[in-house]
Amino acid sequence: MTTILASLQAVQAEHGYVPDDAIARVAEACNASRADVYGVLTFYRDLRTTPPPAVTVRVCQGEACQAVGARALMRQASDLSSDHVAIDHVYCLGNCALGPACEVNGRLLGRATGASIAEAIQEARP
Ligand code: FES
Repeated sequence: MTTILASLQAVQAEHGYVPDDAIARVAEACNASRADVYGVLTFYRDLRTTPPPAVTVRVCQGEACQAVGARALMRQASDLSSDHVAIDHVYCLGNCALGPACEVNGRLLGRATGASIAEAIQEARP
């Protein structure tokens, strides 16, 4: 039996987000209501209902990273935001020993700085 979450993750992996028309298909495949699917879709922050920007930066704000400057790094990263670059926060990327950590389009950066994030954004741009 496929779960609603797994189905939504599969849709997002294919399209980059979950389009409206996928909700009914997931509901039917999972023998659930559209309300159930919508509830799961809107509960998990990592599931998107709109196409993602070209570059997504997620700056860790977990405690270990905060102890080594994650809040200041978030302010620096926010200055890099644009129509094509989204800056978001996350709580722990599993890279605590190399904090402050961030992720640029899925690429993990340890001991991140504003400069290393800017460089990673340039490399990630299509
Ligand atoms: S707290 Fe930042 S990677 Fe774990």
